[in-house]
Amino acid sequence: MAAAALSIVSFFILLIAVFAASTSPPSQDPWYEQPSNISDYAAGEMIRFRSVSPQLESILSLPVNVSVKAVYQYLFRTTDGLGDAVASAVTLLEPYHSDPSKLVGYQAFYDSANVDCSPSYTLRAGNENLGSMSSGLNVSEDIPFVSPRITSHFMDKLTTFQIAAALNLGWWVFTTDYEGLEAEFSAGLQSGHAVLDSTRVILDEGPSVGLSGNPRYALWGYSGGALASTWAAELQTSYAPELNYAGVAVGGTTPNISSVLQTINTGSHAALAFSGIYGQSKAFPNLTDWLNANLISSKSAQFYSIASGCFSQATSMGSGQDFYTYFKNGELSFYDAVPQSVFQWSGQMGLHGTPIAPMFVYKATGDEISPVEDTDALVKKYCAAGARIEYHRDLVGNHETEAISGSASALEWISDRLSGKPVSDDCNTQNVLLSSLSVESVALLGEELFTILQTALGGML
Ligand SMILES: *[C@@H]1O[C@H](CO)[C@@H](O)[C@H](O)[C@H]1NC(C)=O
Ligand SMILES: *[C@@H]1O[C@H](CO)[C@@H](O)[C@H](O)[C@H]1NC(C)=O
Ligand SMILES: *[C@@H]1O[C@H](CO)[C@@H](O)[C@H](O)[C@H]1NC(C)=O
Ligand SMILES: *[C@@H]1O[C@H](CO)[C@@H](O)[C@H](O)[C@H]1NC(C)=O
Ligand SMILES: *[C@@H]1O[C@H](CO)[C@@H](O)[C@H](O)[C@H]1NC(C)=O
Repeated sequence: MAAAALSIVSFFILLIAVFAASTSPPSQDPWYEQPSNISDYAAGEMIRFRSVSPQLESILSLPVNVSVKAVYQYLFRTTDGLGDAVASAVTLLEPYHSDPSKLVGYQAFYDSANVDCSPSYTLRAGNENLGSMSSGLNVSEDIPFVSPRITSHFMDKLTTFQIAAALNLGWWVFTTDYEGLEAEFSAGLQSGHAVLDSTRVILDEGPSVGLSGNPRYALWGYSGGALASTWAAELQTSYAPELNYAGVAVGGTTPNISSVLQTINTGSHAALAFSGIYGQSKAFPNLTDWLNANLISSKSAQFYSIASGCFSQATSMGSGQDFYTYFKNGELSFYDAVPQSVFQWSGQMGLHGTPIAPMFVYKATGDEISPVEDTDALVKKYCAAGARIEYHRDLVGNHETEAISGSASALEWISDRLSGKPVSDDCNTQNVLLSSLSVESVALLGEELFTILQTALGGML
């Protein structure tokens, strides 16, 4: 009787523990707390570890069986844009029947200046332990920029589509909260450092949960995820020279934040300007001061309300807005020394180094978030400095469609890198008409994911 009572009690304690562990968003979850001695940790050193439920609702809601055997999370030390030690989290996913010698760092485009929209949480949010809490929290669904032609409900899960494809190939996958605990969306240095340090912690700690001690590893990201991956590639020689990525695949790159701001203002992606500036301001105190001095006070609350949403919520609030009307001097405000200096230092790619890992860059010439000319110029600059880049300029489509049509070629390219196929020693730019969906794509993606891809691209094929 007593034993039964005891086991009921421990059952409830366990239940509470499981519930607490899986429900709290990062802002309320002590697991994410940055230790006060953070600067005693080496860059990429583990601070904390936990194993979480492999019931990842956002992945499992794809109409495909996704192979997830175990999920691990690490809090690790990285370095922010000011050079200070900070903590960040990374999630490691192990598929069934895995090949522990293959590892991909997939950076999700969570595009939000709110830490509760970080992938370490949103991948898990919606799991059955969360219950009704998910509806009360504005958590990110990590929706790609959904265009009218891509309406299939499952395509609002693009990130999980790409993670699913990698897992179903037996690759281990890690996905980093690269914006850090402050959610410094669009801050290049913070994002790049966090990706590099998350790679370090996974390589160091992964073997104790079954990853090979010497895996081949690559990075992949689209849009905001490409921002983090490209900054990582660019900063690698100076910050993490011991790392040896087999390849870095990036699509829908945003090489120049100033140019993105101008391009998206008043359009359907205008919200990214609000959360992008807010994210950079959290990285640079002088930008916070500038923001508070330059925002029109009667519009400040509205500004922060849009700027602090998860991606989907921010998008619905900010769509079509003229961002500049929130500032005392309108667009001219942005010519001030503070925003100019910050955008140059932490928002312009190509100034901090040259990637040594081979790269696959894919971009639609019709990209309406970041003009293709910016990516042309970046690739040219990297190549002139000795980078090895295969660059696909897709003459069909825009930022949304390329996210999907480019994924098959990106996956094929990464697969070749993880199998050790050699790359060409120079750069190669091609204009393509939609990324070709070859026989190899079917083999790589599996029938189910291939069908999703075809459905999503619909009439374009
Ligand atoms: C940081 O402080 C904690 C708690 O005192 C301690 O356990 C840990 O070893 C310290 N870490 C480092 C790297 O010094
Ligand atoms: C997933 O696997 C289960 C069990 O093998 C099967 O019944 C189900 O049809 C599969 N679902 C899909 C979408 O393939
Ligand atoms: C979520 O967003 C809606 C508006 O889109 C807002 O009314 C609500 O208060 C927000 N919830 C939380 C928990 O922030
Ligand atoms: C970035 O974009 C801004 C705005 O279009 C432009 O003035 C600036 O010259 C660009 N910077 C680089 C390095 O191309
Ligand atoms: C703002 O702060 C950053 C980081 O410290 C610095 O690089 C930049 O020069 C500052 N801008 C101005 C105008 O002082």
